Amino acid sequence: MNQSGHYPRSRPRRMRRDEFSRRLMREHRLDVTDLIYPVFVLDGDDRREAVASMPGIERLSIDQLLSEADTIARLGIPALALFPVIDAGQKSADAAEAWNPDGLVPRAVRALKQAQPQLGVITDVALDPYTSHGQDGLLDDAGYVVNDATVDVLVKQALCHAAAGADVVAPSDMMDGRIGTIRQALEQAGHVNTRILAYAAKYASSFYGPFRDAVGSATSLGQADKFSYQMDPANSDEALREVALDIDEGADMVMVKPGLPYLDIVYRVKKNFAMPTYVYNVSGEYAMIKAAAANGWLDEKACVLEALTACKRAGADGILTYFAKQAAQWLQE
Ligand code: PBG
Repeated sequence: MNQSGHYPRSRPRRMRRDEFSRRLMREHRLDVTDLIYPVFVLDGDDRREAVASMPGIERLSIDQLLSEADTIARLGIPALALFPVIDAGQKSADAAEAWNPDGLVPRAVRALKQAQPQLGVITDVALDPYTSHGQDGLLDDAGYVVNDATVDVLVKQALCHAAAGADVVAPSDMMDGRIGTIRQALEQAGHVNTRILAYAAKYASSFYGPFRDAVGSATSLGQADKFSYQMDPANSDEALREVALDIDEGADMVMVKPGLPYLDIVYRVKKNFAMPTYVYNVSGEYAMIKAAAANGWLDEKACVLEALTACKRAGADGILTYFAKQAAQWLQE
């Protein structure tokens, strides 16, 4: 009773009083099965290179990747997503290295599937690691990323990954019509079980900076931007139209990217389509928490688990995150 003689009609704090009742009414739980670990792979043997803007993340040669994959599998993380670091000498205007059957990605996929058959392998379908100009597609004379010719190359890249044994191909390029064309080509080639994870709503975000450092596309890209194909951060209905198209064209899973600043999009996508929905907690989001934690300004573990749980609350079925390994370890404690 307060001084004016009133008792509150309801006391929500009752349920929050003890750990047992907090546990009983907890709505969302982060689990190791929600995590996908993105890894950077590079050529050579016995190589591990630190990524300056992503403390704790390294570029790994295939042999090192295999020992990392062993750790990932032991932790119970269901899948990893491969991102190649391509030598400058192998980049070209036509991105030919992207569908080289003996290229870095197909070699990494074959090695992973042999060493860890149960671990899901997701490959990125996009040309930016392979183009000399750092764009995700082919350019015309005016420097515009041309759609349909790019899709033809993405199809070759997806087929190359599927032939190497990739479980999931993940087009992250945002060209129009690529999901349908890739799906048809996979079916025709007999890859009927290769899943497509469509980066359906991918924004032209400034939070990709550290990733571009990691794969070396920042230098190639220079002052150019990706606004002619990636989405305007100010839009939300447009994301729903993009997701609807990708589902209609044959996507098995859809993704929203980046993560934390875009959880409203995750929520709308999950609500509207009830599809397996994923969110990419991108490099810049990783770097922010790492930098603040390194300065003693944030409690890293608490913030990471809170951020990842927020992705679940928004409706994500899974989260691509550079924190996957650490989060899996924390969840075991
Ligand atoms: C490009 C691609 C990007 C990321 C993954 N694939 C960024 C870009 O558009 O340059 C970013 C992921 C991250 O920031 O963690 N195909």
